Amino acid sequence: MSINNKNVLLGITGGIAAYKAPDLVRKLVALGANVRVVLTQSALEFVSPLALQAVSGNPVSDNLLDKDAEAAMGHIELARWADILLIAPATANFMAKLTHGLADDLLSTLCLATAAPIVIAPAMNQQMWHASATQQNVNVLRQRHVRILGPAAGEQACGDVGLGRMLEPQDIAHLLNEALPSKVLLGKKVMITAGPTQEAIDPVRYISNHSSGKMGYALAKAAQAMGAEVVLVSGPTNLVVPQAVTTVQVKSAEQMHQSVMEQVATCDIFIGCAAVADYRPAQTTPQKIKKNDQELTLTFVKNPDILSDVAHLQHPPFTLGFAAETQNVREYALSKLARKKLNMIAANDVSDSRIGFNSEQNALSVFWPGGEVTLAMADKQKLALQLLQLVSEQFK
Ligand code: PMT
Repeated sequence: MSINNKNVLLGITGGIAAYKAPDLVRKLVALGANVRVVLTQSALEFVSPLALQAVSGNPVSDNLLDKDAEAAMGHIELARWADILLIAPATANFMAKLTHGLADDLLSTLCLATAAPIVIAPAMNQQMWHASATQQNVNVLRQRHVRILGPAAGEQACGDVGLGRMLEPQDIAHLLNEALPSKVLLGKKVMITAGPTQEAIDPVRYISNHSSGKMGYALAKAAQAMGAEVVLVSGPTNLVVPQAVTTVQVKSAEQMHQSVMEQVATCDIFIGCAAVADYRPAQTTPQKIKKNDQELTLTFVKNPDILSDVAHLQHPPFTLGFAAETQNVREYALSKLARKKLNMIAANDVSDSRIGFNSEQNALSVFWPGGEVTLAMADKQKLALQLLQLVSEQFK
């Protein structure tokens, strides 16, 4: 994964860190990237377009309504040209615009018009970074799989000390080099299950679990970025459906089983990331259960095992299962790998509250016949790319 020969569209917004942009362009060019620069009007106050044109070797754009620029490379063409859109520095104001989908200048319009992954390097006063509005925007952007690099802590231009400094150009260029996935899954169809299932007890109650869907959605987004056609079969979540991914919404394990079995024959790779309920109530009462008795006993029956059924098909796809364990992680994962006839299994130790269910991060021990690797704790989006890289290697 590298930006060598890739088209990097660099957006610069109006913060003091913009003075580092020519150095950032030089670092990106040194890694082999083709760089084009777009400035906001306030960025023009901090850095010279001429300097950016000189170091990038390409014309610089700063205006959505510039007929000469539109005649050369219109904003839609520019949005399509980009393999990755990097915004550095990204001010608090620009992050708010990005969160709300405003398109009132060239750079914000490009953010909406591009299908390329968006990466931002925030830079602002530490109080502005910690403001709840900014933090809410950060959460929304992360959910939409915008990759956020930094910010770093230290002394700021205003004299404050704290989090909010833009990462150094060297670090941004290095991280970007890792962020861009190569299209190793081009031409492949990948089906992914995500989220929890809900098993109805009566019309108003169900049993479920704490899965947020974040890991499965990150995998869907990563597979799509790596060139695959992606079908996501999702239990109930609060997440935004990833762009260009066919998503089937289900509630119960039986519905998830049916959706998967209907379509899986056309898939090359199947990933079971959903936390599927192992059991469902034997009966769903048609009316709400009244609280007449001191005790209530429910009987449960076993749900179909989706992962195992896929792996036992006559012509199964490459099948990757997950294992959520609280103890004996290696032993239980290896036994699931063999018992369910999987090609690969990714185990997470969910006894660690920092990772696994409903967290931003995860850590995985990945096993396949004859091999294993540990993927250290990281953002789920980053882990998803690493895991799919392993899948693509074993799939070959
Ligand atoms: O959604 P997040 O909040 O991001 O959390 C991510 C996660 C912790 C849910 C995810 O990383 C994870 O571990 N998913 C699998 C959870 C699980 O159900 O594990 P399990 O060990 O009980 O199941 C083993 C495998 O069998 C899983 O691939 C599961 O999808 C599959 N399974 C289980 C039961 C069943 N009836 N059908 C299945 O397909």
